[in-house]
Amino acid sequence: MPSDVPATTFRLIYRSRDLIPEEGRKKELGDLFGVARSQNKQRHICGALLLTEETFVQVLEGEEAAVRELFEHIARDPRHEAVTVLESGVVAAPAFSRWAMAKVAEDGEPDIPLIAHVDGIAPAAGRGTTPEQDEILAFMRDAARGASQDSA
Ligand SMILES: Cc1cc2nc3c(=O)[nH]c(=O)nc-3n(C[C@H](O)[C@H](O)[C@H](O)COP(=O)(O)O)c2cc1C
Repeated sequence: MPSDVPATTFRLIYRSRDLIPEEGRKKELGDLFGVARSQNKQRHICGALLLTEETFVQVLEGEEAAVRELFEHIARDPRHEAVTVLESGVVAAPAFSRWAMAKVAEDGEPDIPLIAHVDGIAPAAGRGTTPEQDEILAFMRDAARGASQDSA
């Protein structure tokens, strides 16, 4: 096995409160994804970041030390607060290896739509998600929804 392929995958999912102001938000998020994708590729980390108006939910997958180190770094980012780990542990394989960081959102250009209909109808070729991804995404959507109810 090549030395850069981890034998096991560590997955961490957290939720945080989005502090990015509406003004300039599109550019800020574009920059954030640009940096995240290039750095994650170098660290062999993949994942998905779900965005609502007030909440981030992110899944990070990769070698455990690399994921923990990145998470510590992200947790100190002033663009969010109340960073809370929802789930972490070793899994058989990464679910999001296709993406250095998939964007899960409602806006015009997400990699994965925020509200996907998991009703057994095959999605359009090339844009589909696997059942494992759907399960994790459902968990993330529920976590985002829970956060908006908490603050209501
Ligand atoms: C919600 C959120 C998610 C982020 N996700 C990542 C990520 O997956 N990978 C990454 O390298 N940086 C991510 N960042 C950005 C980091 O916090 C940090 O700004 C970036 O790694 C650049 O750090 P540096 O200036 O010390 O190089 C994220 C930031 C936020 C607010």
